[in-house]
Amino acid sequence: MNSSNTMRAACYEKYGAPEQLEIRRIPIPSYAADEVLVKVHYSTVNRTDCGFLRGQPFILRFFAGLTKPRSTTLGCEFAGEIVKVGQSVHEFKVGDRVCGFKDDDFGFGGHAEYTAMNVNGLIGKIPEHLSFAQVAPALEGAHYALFGIRSARISAGQQILVNGGTGAIGSAAIQIIHSLGAEVTAVCGPAHIETVKQLGAKKVLDFMSEDFTKLKTTFDVVYDAVGKSTFGQCKNILKPHGIYMSTELGPYAQNPFLALYTAKLSKKKVHFPIPENRKTDADYLCELLQTNQYLPLTDRTYTLDEIVDAFHYVESGEKIGNVLLKIS
Ligand SMILES: NC(=O)c1ccc[n+]([C@@H]2O[C@H](COP(=O)([O-])OP(=O)(O)OC[C@H]3O[C@@H](n4cnc5c(N)ncnc54)[C@H](OP(=O)(O)O)[C@@H]3O)[C@@H](O)[C@H]2O)c1
Repeated sequence: MNSSNTMRAACYEKYGAPEQLEIRRIPIPSYAADEVLVKVHYSTVNRTDCGFLRGQPFILRFFAGLTKPRSTTLGCEFAGEIVKVGQSVHEFKVGDRVCGFKDDDFGFGGHAEYTAMNVNGLIGKIPEHLSFAQVAPALEGAHYALFGIRSARISAGQQILVNGGTGAIGSAAIQIIHSLGAEVTAVCGPAHIETVKQLGAKKVLDFMSEDFTKLKTTFDVVYDAVGKSTFGQCKNILKPHGIYMSTELGPYAQNPFLALYTAKLSKKKVHFPIPENRKTDADYLCELLQTNQYLPLTDRTYTLDEIVDAFHYVESGEKIGNVLLKIS
C-alpha cells in the first residue's frame, strides 16, 4: 500500500476486550458528493465506543454485525480540519475547523487520522476561541442530553434534578438546562461537587451521603443521566405532572414500556426518547459553545498509541465527563 493514500487507525476484527484493538495502516476513506474529508486532531473514547467494542448489549450486534463488527474503526466524535470537500458541499470549505458526531449505520471512524463526514449530519464549525481538544467531546453526550431536554420540554423557571452530574451526558445536560433558565439540582460523588457547581447547578448533592430519591422537594423533571434509579423510586420527588427520564433501559428493560404505559395512563410520565442525528442540533450546540454557555467537561488525554489504556479507563467507570484521544 502506498503510504500517501493510507493512514494510521485503531482497528478491531472481533468483539471483545480493548486488547482487540491494533494500530494499523489502512486506506484513507473516500468521500461522497455530500461529504467532507476531515484530518482528525482529537477524538474521544466514550461509552458508545465501549459498547461497540465488546458487542454488548447483544442487541447491538443486530445492527453492527452479528458475529463480528462490520465497521472496524470506532470513534463516533472528532474535531479536526477539512482537507477535501465533495462536489455538492457549499457550507464548508478546505481549512474549516469542525467538530462532528456520527453513528449513522454504526460507521464511526474517528479513531483514525482521517474520517469522512456527511454535511447533513451532526457537524459544526468550531468557534475561533476554542481548540480542537476543547470541542472534540462537544456533540456526543450533549446530543443525547439535548434529546432528553427537548422531549421533556424543559423551560425557564422549572426545577430539574440531574443524577450523574459528572458523566458525559449529565455534565452537558446541566449546562444546557442552565442556559435555558431552569434551576438544576445535581447529584454526583463527593470529590466533584465544586466541579458540578461550576457547570451551573444551583444545588449539588453527594450520592454517598444523601439518597436523592428521598428528598422532600419535588421536580418538574428527574433526568437520571447515569441510569442508576427507577421511575418507581423517583415518583415521590416528581411534581404531579412531572417527567422521569433515564439513559438506561432500567431493570427488565422497563423504561421504554413505562414510557408507553404512562403516556396514556398516568399523570407522571416516563420519557424514553430515541435520539436522531439532526444537523440543527450541531448548530444549536456550536452556538452554545460560541457564547460560552457550554464547554464539555474533560478528563484525561491519551494518544492513539495508548488507545487500549483509554478504553480500560472509560470502562472503569471512573471518568469525569469525557476522555480525549489525541490523533495528530
Ligand atoms: N456517553 C455515551 O456515549 C452514552 C451513550 C448512550 C448511553 N449511555 C449511558 O449513559 C450512562 C452515562 O454515560 P456517560 O458516559 O455520560 O457517563 P459515565 O462515564 O458512565 O458517568 C460516570 C460518572 O457517573 C458518576 N456516578 C457513578 N455512579 C453514580 C451514582 N450512583 N450516582 C450518581 N453519579 C454516579 C461518577 O461520577 P462521580 O465521580 O461523581 O461519582 C462517574 O464519573 C451510562 O450508563 C451509559 O451506558 C452513554
